[in-house]
Amino acid sequence: MRRLFPDPAPLDDDEGLVEAYRCPDGRWLRMDFIASLDGAITVDGVSEGLGSPGDRRVFRVLRALADVVLVGHGTAAVEGYHPVLLGSSVGRLRESIGRHPTLPIAVVSRRASLDPASSLVVDAVSPTILVTCAASDAGRRAALADAGVDVLVCGDEDVDLPTALDALADRGLEQVTCEGGPQLLRSALAAGVVDELDLSISPALVGGEARLLDGAPGGALPLSLRQVLEEDGMLFTRYSVG
Ligand SMILES: NC(=O)c1ccc[n+]([C@@H]2O[C@H](COP(=O)([O-])OP(=O)(O)OC[C@H]3O[C@@H](n4cnc5c(N)ncnc54)[C@H](OP(=O)(O)O)[C@@H]3O)[C@@H](O)[C@H]2O)c1
Repeated sequence: MRRLFPDPAPLDDDEGLVEAYRCPDGRWLRMDFIASLDGAITVDGVSEGLGSPGDRRVFRVLRALADVVLVGHGTAAVEGYHPVLLGSSVGRLRESIGRHPTLPIAVVSRRASLDPASSLVVDAVSPTILVTCAASDAGRRAALADAGVDVLVCGDEDVDLPTALDALADRGLEQVTCEGGPQLLRSALAAGVVDELDLSISPALVGGEARLLDGAPGGALPLSLRQVLEEDGMLFTRYSVG
């Protein structure tokens, strides 16, 4: 891994990568995505086919630096999300930088679709959080709370993301890494709550319809390039939003 911009330099170890991805202190929301050169975000319906060993290291570093992982229910379901466990590679990296080895996953779902029997609920060490709204089924919310999920009702008809981020911050979860997907990215941009986009650009042409955004964010949104890393032809970019 090497840094191309700013200040070209080799980045050979986890320590260097952790420093390259640190956020300013306090509340911060970063969106973490991988896309092909033509903007596709999946191969055969999941993101794995775009990845590389370097991308998996960056993914691990972003989780290690975060207080909480935020993810849309669509992504959590399709990508088969599991909780972060003690002794996992993320857990070991977190411990090496002086952090608690686990962190919660917060699933955003208007309909409270999280399955109480899923690994995210049953196996979680740091209890999984459900971010939903009052319009979701009260019985589903109660069943999830009974199963140990921390249920946050943020908004009436739909999830209000600024309220959700306030509720997470109230729990001390200020530094948020959001792992998508496209619907959640679009709503977060529309709500004006995104501080940073970390986009890994895979050197491949894929085609297909799954894109970074599932609709227009409301006019072209200019971003500012902060950093570019490279390994095996994969570019790892950090952009500031707003
Ligand atoms: N390449 C990458 O980096 C990357 C990253 C993430 C995902 N993906 C891919 O993207 C695809 C999933 O796309 P998607 O658009 O379905 O993902 P998504 O945004 O994760 O999920 C959509 C679902 O999440 C909930 N949701 C999302 N935003 C919400 C909001 N603002 N308010 C309330 N609920 C919200 C809703 O769940 P309910 O229906 O339960 O209410 C909605 O149906 C998968 O194929 C995945 O592999 C790729």
